[in-house]
Amino acid sequence: MVLKYLLLIILFVNICYGYKILLVFPLPGRSHSILGDGYVRHLLNAGHEVTYVTPFPTENPPKNLRYIDVSESSKCVNMGTFDIKVIMDKQINLQDQTLLMPVFEKFWECLFKIEALQRFLNDQNEKFDAVVVEWLYSELGSGFATVFDAPLIWSSSMDPSTFVLSLMDEHLNPAYTVHHMSKDYSFSFLDRVYQLWSVGRVRYYQWANSNKENELFKQLYGPIVAKRGRVMPEFDEVKYNASLMLGNSDIVTGDGIALPQNYKHVGGYHFKDDNEPLPKQMKEIVDNAPHGVIYFSMGSNLKSSNIPDHLKRKLLDMFSEFKETVIWKLEKTIPDLPKNVHISPWVPQQSLLAHPKCVLFISHGGLLSLLETLRAGKPIIGIPFFADQYLNVNRAVAKGIAKRIDFDENVIQPLKGAIKEILENPSYQQRAKELSIQFNDRMIPPGKELVHWIEHVIKTNGAPHLRSAALHVSWYKKMYLDLLLVVLIALMLILAVSKSLFTFIQVNSLQKKKLH
Ligand SMILES: *[C@@H]1O[C@H](CO)[C@@H](O)[C@H](O)[C@H]1NC(C)=O
Repeated sequence: MVLKYLLLIILFVNICYGYKILLVFPLPGRSHSILGDGYVRHLLNAGHEVTYVTPFPTENPPKNLRYIDVSESSKCVNMGTFDIKVIMDKQINLQDQTLLMPVFEKFWECLFKIEALQRFLNDQNEKFDAVVVEWLYSELGSGFATVFDAPLIWSSSMDPSTFVLSLMDEHLNPAYTVHHMSKDYSFSFLDRVYQLWSVGRVRYYQWANSNKENELFKQLYGPIVAKRGRVMPEFDEVKYNASLMLGNSDIVTGDGIALPQNYKHVGGYHFKDDNEPLPKQMKEIVDNAPHGVIYFSMGSNLKSSNIPDHLKRKLLDMFSEFKETVIWKLEKTIPDLPKNVHISPWVPQQSLLAHPKCVLFISHGGLLSLLETLRAGKPIIGIPFFADQYLNVNRAVAKGIAKRIDFDENVIQPLKGAIKEILENPSYQQRAKELSIQFNDRMIPPGKELVHWIEHVIKTNGAPHLRSAALHVSWYKKMYLDLLLVVLIALMLILAVSKSLFTFIQVNSLQKKKLH
């Protein structure tokens, strides 16, 4: 009888047992915290205990959630770089990955100076079942998995690029995939050569920099790991040792490429389950818009208020020529607004896009915005500024749901033309609906999938069965260059042997002739 109860209790404890999961999302950008917050929400709902390294902690966290406050990380990277004015004036080329990589290396170095983080890492009572780290142009975060001796899971904010896939499997073939920093999307001969060059350049940078990175890795984590009485592994052993990569991506926003078994698309997991209602005043404006609503937002990192004033005025004048209502997400209001334009510092974007009156979204083409638009099935005008935004917008254009406009002093006329085209030509609307069906028709919601795969990694001790067979095969073996070498040597041997045989016969016959 006692045994029976004991068994019941063990069963019950087992069912209730949640895993302890560490989330490392230290980047001080709003869209990156949206990604981290999504993990938190789904993991808590599934009953797990979450520790969240974030620059954006909130008051009174829910039960089972603990913050490691790294808000000082805002000092570690200059977010002023991501400014509309700076980018317009071409003060910096944000498309050059070899310029970005040292920035993020410095970021990690600076992050480790934060006291709260040091205290946490050096606390030997801390234990975790899995560690999720956001990848952004650096693999230095992988050391968290070494410290806690737990499986490493990468979170990638972008479509699967050659850089993240080479950590799990192998490089993408640049003949049919575009480098995610590329401003163009075409595969002519010269483009393919250029793509190969861009990938090669970054590879060279990584190779030339690897000793320095290894040093930094050991300097950051070495003392902490030593305190736990373990030997510090090499950086390469750790960064290529992830069990899983969860990507904020989807086949509908990306291209049909082969992926390793441990890369999982979970794009859309940040969606709210129920769209929050629009604020009262905005709801009235949208409900009563006689000709539909155009929504204009540059996302959360780029501040639209940094658009030069004269250009803002020109944008307003241009909007006033349309009969549609315009809602512009802008941090500061502007006096003398045209009748059909409304400004709001905060817009529940998912709800507004889903509203039947919303007919067009003018966006910077960030992946989060793009995924939200796909779900709602609305056409887009993309105004890309940096990183993968060009690629996202270019693909949306290729799929027939978008037009791309480049932002500079002369943006008004092309933008006006693009708005007209999308409002008057029903094909954009039609394609957006089709893509929305492709996107929304899935077996389980991405948030559920995310939880499932993290649990799977924990249950299977790091999911070794999902790892790619290609990961540890040298590039020359994959290209059969060793076989080529053997064939070349064999050919040379045959050539040499036949040559000496030939001379031998020649000499022999000559001698015979002489004898006669
Ligand atoms: C690699 O990952 C496995 C599974 O999580 C883990 O057991 C192992 O210690 C890791 N090795 C290194 C060097 O990080």
